[in-house]
Amino acid sequence: MLQINLTGKIAFVAGVGDDNGFGWAIAKSLYQAGATVLVGTWTPMMKIFTTAFQAGKFDESRKLPDGRMFEIDKVYPLDATFDKIEDVPADILENKRYKDNSGYTISEVVEAIKRDYGQVDILIHSLANGPEVQKPLLETSRKGYLAALSSSSYSLISLVAHFAPIMKPNGSVVSLTYMASEKVIPGYGGGMSSAKAALESDTQVLAYEAGQKYGIRVNSISAGPFGSRAAKAIGFIEKMIEYSANNAPLKRPITASEVAAVAAFLCSDLASGITGEVLHVDCGMHVMGCASDSASLK
Ligand SMILES: NC(=O)c1ccc[n+]([C@@H]2O[C@H](COP(=O)([O-])OP(=O)(O)OC[C@H]3O[C@@H](n4cnc5c(N)ncnc54)[C@H](O)[C@@H]3O)[C@@H](O)[C@H]2O)c1
Repeated sequence: MLQINLTGKIAFVAGVGDDNGFGWAIAKSLYQAGATVLVGTWTPMMKIFTTAFQAGKFDESRKLPDGRMFEIDKVYPLDATFDKIEDVPADILENKRYKDNSGYTISEVVEAIKRDYGQVDILIHSLANGPEVQKPLLETSRKGYLAALSSSSYSLISLVAHFAPIMKPNGSVVSLTYMASEKVIPGYGGGMSSAKAALESDTQVLAYEAGQKYGIRVNSISAGPFGSRAAKAIGFIEKMIEYSANNAPLKRPITASEVAAVAAFLCSDLASGITGEVLHVDCGMHVMGCASDSASLK
């Protein structure tokens, strides 16, 4: 039987802050396929996430179909907007949600993982942040735009640059993108559409550069709308889910586990010939040129 087998592989999933987002679902499916899973949790969420995990709040969603419980080997605090400790401004260093944590810049996390595990095989980038996401692009400030690019796009470049030297050949990097990079999604503002376009373009260039230099693969999944914590902050995710369910070829919303299964496939040897790809997991929504439920078509 052809199976996704990640036994013996070590995976780092950046962007797990609860049991609802794509990061959690992907981490769980990698574990289910046999990988040892490490996660990177945004520094301000670290205490909330680890306390909830230890208190059993996620136990229901930790259950796997084979009866086992999903286990995380280690949680690292991570702020992917900072590459090294010298980059962290004084007010953040002193912030009460950062003060209790250390080693959360990208270079420090990679150093810690190298110390703890030696090498990794899989890197998942499942994070994004646009402080002005609710503002139209025309009203987005330079600061807000650059912050969206820094958190949501440059973070992938920096993670790949720092992780690649400790990744084994045939290692795999997967990020999460959204169709707003290709087509206008009114309301997905603050430069987030630009950030996703950059992420997809960078996926190709990183695939080339990291492929040639380290023999690792870099791909992205363009997921359909899903009601995660980050998506709810945008403000109209339920409407986008309904719109997709009405108009996508498969006429239903996607599930996080569908996205997670594709991520596990991309990280497996079954996908050893795939790199630089943006794979849509959106029930086919991206192929539509018009809304089939539009009143104009009635
Ligand atoms: N939900 C959707 O509709 C949708 C659709 C397509 C793509 N995506 C993408 O999927 C990815 C995961 O998002 P999600 O929707 O599962 O939401 P989520 O809230 O579960 O995940 C986003 C995570 O990013 C973390 N984060 C934010 N800034 C960070 C930083 N500076 N450093 C480290 N971590 C940081 C948050 O704490 C959170 O855990 C994102 O790239 C998102 O753009 C989401």
